[in-house]
Amino acid sequence: MRYNICVMPGDGIGPEIVAEAVKVLDVVGKKFGLEFAYTQALIGGAAIDAVGVPLPDETVAACKAADAVLLGAVGGPKWDEIDPAIRPEKGLLGIRKALGLFANLRPAKLFPELAAACCLRPDIVGQGLDVMVIRELTGGAYFGEPRGIEKRGDEEVGFNTMVYAEHEVRRIAKVGFETARKRGKKLCSVDKANVLDVSRLWRKVVLEVAKDYPDVELSHMYVDNAAMQLVRAPSQFDVIVTENLFGDILSDEAAVITGSIGMLPSASLGAANPGLYEPIHGSAPDIAGQDKANPLATILSVAMMLKHSFDQPAAAEAIEAACAKVLADGYRTGDIMEPGKTLVGCKAMGQLVVERLG
Ligand code: NAD
Ligand code: IPM
Ligand code: MN
Repeated sequence: MRYNICVMPGDGIGPEIVAEAVKVLDVVGKKFGLEFAYTQALIGGAAIDAVGVPLPDETVAACKAADAVLLGAVGGPKWDEIDPAIRPEKGLLGIRKALGLFANLRPAKLFPELAAACCLRPDIVGQGLDVMVIRELTGGAYFGEPRGIEKRGDEEVGFNTMVYAEHEVRRIAKVGFETARKRGKKLCSVDKANVLDVSRLWRKVVLEVAKDYPDVELSHMYVDNAAMQLVRAPSQFDVIVTENLFGDILSDEAAVITGSIGMLPSASLGAANPGLYEPIHGSAPDIAGQDKANPLATILSVAMMLKHSFDQPAAAEAIEAACAKVLADGYRTGDIMEPGKTLVGCKAMGQLVVERLG
């Protein structure tokens, strides 16, 4: 089989981590008889520098023409003072919207080998952590209108609108129930229905969808409590489904329980291909260009690509097993380093995974 992958390295550590993930894809391709053809496209600050906008039309076209998209990260201090309408982050939000990627799967799984890198006490983590955070990705305050900063009286006010239509809640709730059905059959819908009208509608629609999934145990939790429960007793969760902004925050929190944000992959899916695959972390300007970044989140993201976009679960599992083996053999990037382990850089970590793919 031949697959076309649109590769967008982006900014900061983006090019470093994406290079390692592509190396892994090439090796796994040879092993499983899959052929990958790559198209490179510009996004974020790299696109601003080259052509003046964070999401050129050619990039959208290249993504639409591909079978899947691989993204590094966007943004950085270089573009922080730029016109907000063309910030690097607008490129990322724009491609998610253009491809209709409403469902963002962020699996927070603690590799047993990284138990000591986890920031929680072993008795709190208990039997480990395996939470699937499903984040709605094309709605909520990120995209709601009206938004802006305007003069009212003698001062400026800033405002955004958190808005969801029924159909948007219904389709993400379905993804939540379907995912839970294939896992531990427990779904926790996280909202702020005690305060927000948008959350009251969210909860009502989730309850309607639940009627089609009597085999899945549904619970509701307010987002403030969910943030607390995640670090108090994370193993109570199986699948979490939540809106865009809450999911952004809760997934960074879940990530660090797995040892580091450098460990968490993601898949952004819509009604049809292409899906987009990216680590959940950002461009890490503080370590960019120093060969220090952890490439495992991006490598695990291509495993998600193989599973969700290409239906190649064996190839995906081979990558996950190779990552686990590297950790079991004692290799660590700086973000997951512990005493007695071997510190390696981004390139070496990618190479170690490649070697274990045999
Ligand atoms: P960040 O995720 O880039 O970094 C937060 C911290 O985590 C930093 O200390 C960084 O060094 C560390 N870190 C992140 N990824 C790592 C990795 N793979 N290995 C080791 N350490 C890692 O978040 P930030 O500092 O808030 O944002 C920096 C820039 O990235 C901003 O411009 C932001 O908008 C952007 N951003 C982009 C994305 C994306 O492209 N998907 C996601 C988040 C933030
Ligand atoms: C993420 C990032 C993005 C988001 C930013 C960079 C637009 O934080 O992918 O989690 O908020 O969605
Ligand atoms: Mn984020």
